[in-house]
Amino acid sequence: MKPIDNNHIMIGPFCQLVTMADLPEAGPIADEQLQVLEHAGVLVRGEHILLVGNYEQLLKIASENNYALEKIDRPMVLLPGLVDAHTHMCFAGSRANDYAMRVAGKSYLEIARSGGGILDSVNKTREATLVELVDLLKKRCDRHLAEGVTTCEVKSGYGLTVEEELKMLEAIQLVNAHHHLELIPTCLAAHMRPPEHTDSRAYLEEVVTRLLPQVQEQELANRVDIFIEDTAFGEEEALEYLLAAKEMGFDITVHADQFSTGGSRIAAEVGAASADHLEASGEAEMALLQEAGVVATVLPGASLGLGMHYAPARKMLDSGLCVAIATDWNPGSAPMGDLLLQAALLGASQKLTTAETLAGITTRAARALNLKDRGTLQKGQLADMIAFPTENYKEILYWQGKLKPAQVWKRGEKL
Ligand code: NIG
Ligand code: FE
Repeated sequence: MKPIDNNHIMIGPFCQLVTMADLPEAGPIADEQLQVLEHAGVLVRGEHILLVGNYEQLLKIASENNYALEKIDRPMVLLPGLVDAHTHMCFAGSRANDYAMRVAGKSYLEIARSGGGILDSVNKTREATLVELVDLLKKRCDRHLAEGVTTCEVKSGYGLTVEEELKMLEAIQLVNAHHHLELIPTCLAAHMRPPEHTDSRAYLEEVVTRLLPQVQEQELANRVDIFIEDTAFGEEEALEYLLAAKEMGFDITVHADQFSTGGSRIAAEVGAASADHLEASGEAEMALLQEAGVVATVLPGASLGLGMHYAPARKMLDSGLCVAIATDWNPGSAPMGDLLLQAALLGASQKLTTAETLAGITTRAARALNLKDRGTLQKGQLADMIAFPTENYKEILYWQGKLKPAQVWKRGEKL
């Protein structure tokens, strides 16, 4: 008899397997467009999906070839692993004091102008050692993975000097090397003008000439982000900076239109992969992003943390945008970091279809990160998969994030 082939694994049966495949890249999605396979299985080879389909048919192939079998013995629904396309999960310290001031009436920008806010996290992150940062980030990754996130973007941006930004990116790289949660690092040295500099242009120039070359050399990140806002960077200096980073080969993403508009215009002009936040965006901003093919990444966690309105996700979809949904997990505006919960709340409030919300945290989030190998369950994609203990995929958003995955697979490996 043929020995068991452990490089091929047959997993199932699942009551439903939601592939998230063959959906429009942008614009509205009706639930009827979702491909939901009933009584389904998935055949995994190594790190990738070989086949999805009817369980009995796949079982036949598997037994003929003596593939290893992973039997699912209770009702479950299978989805692609979640993708969190925007986080600041690498940080030290807490901003509970800021939070208390905000709920007592001070605004996020007021706190920032008085030296608190992001700068407070910068001080605490600078004080932390590399080992401490690694340890803090690792614990947050453990939680994210258990909650179904299998790919997660993480930004630097609490260092704001060449050395301290490198420390943050190294911490992200170290965790990435040893954790099942796959991290996509982004250099956000342009989060704020650091207190040591009086001239933000001179600081950005230093980032371009001294930091970004080292980021590339040490393969620490291939994405660059900037925060465009009154309290951070202006539009024209941001444009110059992003064009220089793009010229070096970096993918671009922008913190845009959080409190005031302007950032989305710059994102469109440089051809950014995504423009993120967009709470203040109106029709003109949406049109610019749509024409330029920029993904609109909305961050309900920041709205919840700041007690402000959500980005107009419904209008964005109706104007033809590709909308991704991410947590923005950070110590200031978005400490919660629960992607499924936040997406469900956004969907309820903005009247997003189940398909639109699920796409926003899977296939469309992968698109925001320029990742073509994940976000759907189909042949050739990474076997990043999560199973929920239910018979009906509609239960997942209905429980508003309290129904958690019972099983997670990363690159074919059951965790
Ligand atoms: O995306 N808006 C700018 N940056 C982060 C917040 C960072 C912080 O407050 O520490 C955001 O909300
Ligand atoms: Fe952010």
